[in-house]
Amino acid sequence: MKMRLMLGTLTAALLITGCSQADATVEKAVEPVKQVAASAVAVAAPTITEESLGLRKTDLYSENTTTGDETKYATTAAGSGVTIERAFDNAPPMIPHDVEGMLPITTNNNSCVGCHAPEVAPSMNATPMPKSHFTDFRPATAIAADGKITKEGKGVDNTSDFLTVATSLDHMNKARFNCSQCHAPQSTGDLIVENTFRPDFQSEKMKKGSSMLETLNAGVE
Ligand code: HEC
Ligand code: HEC
Repeated sequence: MKMRLMLGTLTAALLITGCSQADATVEKAVEPVKQVAASAVAVAAPTITEESLGLRKTDLYSENTTTGDETKYATTAAGSGVTIERAFDNAPPMIPHDVEGMLPITTNNNSCVGCHAPEVAPSMNATPMPKSHFTDFRPATAIAADGKITKEGKGVDNTSDFLTVATSLDHMNKARFNCSQCHAPQSTGDLIVENTFRPDFQSEKMKKGSSMLETLNAGVE
């Protein structure tokens, strides 16, 4: 214990005496570096403002300057709207018409189907719901009394790791009933943060149409 203390004091003493001499030389060598650093700070300072750090380029201390444009939904009646390009390949298209009085969709009232069901859509000039909405992608699953799980008749471990199925139905899949869960009405307004996303479409046709069912396994098979 004593020994260590003594060594410690010795080192400190050495350092103190040694330093004062070395200091001057080091200081000289460091001086130009300091100058460069100082000028770098002077140049860099204006670009690292708080506003430049985030996506939001407005005053961070006030919400007044950050209010977005009011969302204005399409007010054109169904039949006179303009469909827009899909956001990306097989993205759910935006609703180009007014949905006033159509939402919320309830178990007893789904007016969307009234115009978009494939059998009526052509007469309404509406886009028919695609085949994917008449397909069940969930494997038929059963759990026996003993806890054994079967999916599509095959015994499986208790895991979600199972092949994808696509079972055609003669009716719309109930998983598609709540249209507005995926389809939102078109709206206009300026974005505070520019959207620079550029979609890659499989073909020109896909910009205004979909083929989810046909291309489900594209790139996987
Ligand atoms: C009165 C008939 C009618 C009703 C009801 C209706 N639509 Fe439409 N929908 C149309 C027509 C017609 C078009 C074609 C463009 C247009 O006229 O606005 C269309 C277009 C669309 C599109 C765009 C398709 C594309 O290719 O871009 C979507 C999505 C859509 N409707 C969803 C809905 C949803 C969801 C509802 C229910 C909230 C609904 N529609 C209710 C007639 C209707
Ligand atoms: C779970 C999400 C989801 C729900 C719910 C849903 N859709 Fe879609 N819809 C999509 C997606 C994704 C696409 C594009 C890819 C595809 O073909 O499936 C699409 C495509 C469409 C299209 C364009 C078809 C074409 O040929 O381009 C119409 C019209 C449509 N849906 C109407 C409806 C209506 C009406 C309902 C309610 C009855 C509904 N959808 C419910 C996700 C959904």
